[in-house]
Amino acid sequence: PTIYGITPTYARLAQKADLTRLSQTLMLVKNFHWIVIEDSEKKTKLVENFLKESTLKYTHLNVKTNSSKHSTVMDINICLFKTDTFNTSWYCASGVEQRNLALDWLRKHLKQSEDKRGVVYFMDDDNTYSLKVFDEMRKINKVGVWPVGIVGGMRVEMPLVKDGKVSGYNAVWKPFRPFPIDMAGFAINATLFLEHPNAMFSRKVQSGFQESEILKYFTKTEDLEPLAENCTKVLVWHTRTQKPSIISPSKLKHPIPPDSHIEV
Ligand code: UGA
Ligand code: MN
Repeated sequence: PTIYGITPTYARLAQKADLTRLSQTLMLVKNFHWIVIEDSEKKTKLVENFLKESTLKYTHLNVKTNSSKHSTVMDINICLFKTDTFNTSWYCASGVEQRNLALDWLRKHLKQSEDKRGVVYFMDDDNTYSLKVFDEMRKINKVGVWPVGIVGGMRVEMPLVKDGKVSGYNAVWKPFRPFPIDMAGFAINATLFLEHPNAMFSRKVQSGFQESEILKYFTKTEDLEPLAENCTKVLVWHTRTQKPSIISPSKLKHPIPPDSHIEV
């Protein structure tokens, strides 16, 4: 089956570095189709040229996040209060509109395709992926799950497996979530998106519930397929790229040669 990787991305100083690292992993994955959705009103030249120069099979989409649609009034206020030191990402879900647009595209694409087999994986642009996680996904019948390293305040967040079945989770962050797993910890058989045409992400749920929101259409805890040796191996890490701090040229004693013509 084809693996459809769905990656929202937004403009920032480390964007090209993150995309370079991820794309060069993806170049080593067979039968992979990358769906990249920019969080922007227009497609940027940086991402457009970046994808063109890559050897990957890809689809380039864009849709801007509408921050006024953030779930609750409290979330909207927190999301508008963005600073460098305060991490708002736990309050303001990112990627909702972008992933939904990708799912629209995928449904149209699959309807037209003779071969409807595939696996859908939601991939942050700054995570770290072992090639082994893609081998695991090819075993999926409906929904497969595996541990995620360094997430939710834990070394490893994972489904608990008993007699080959998922019996619970070890999550400590919002453990009351229906599926307390990170986006990187599961993948879904693509044909299920045709069988459930309404399945999508929602702005109407509290932060951390996006994974549960999409999974609820397809599965129950007891039907999840535990992969990565019964969820005992970490094959993906929820790494986050540190926000770089750049010295403002006006604060320098001596002027520096111009560099604005150079893409970073
Ligand atoms: C966690 C989860 O791992 C994400 O899958 C989830 O989308 C996110 O929380 C959330 O709910 O906000 P985290 O590292 O905190 O991940 O989030 P980011 O990596 O900053 O964002 C997730 C994806 O959305 C990335 O690919 C990022 O490039 C993209 N994004 C982020 C946007 O498209 N727009 C933004 O304003 C921010
Ligand atoms: Mn991330």
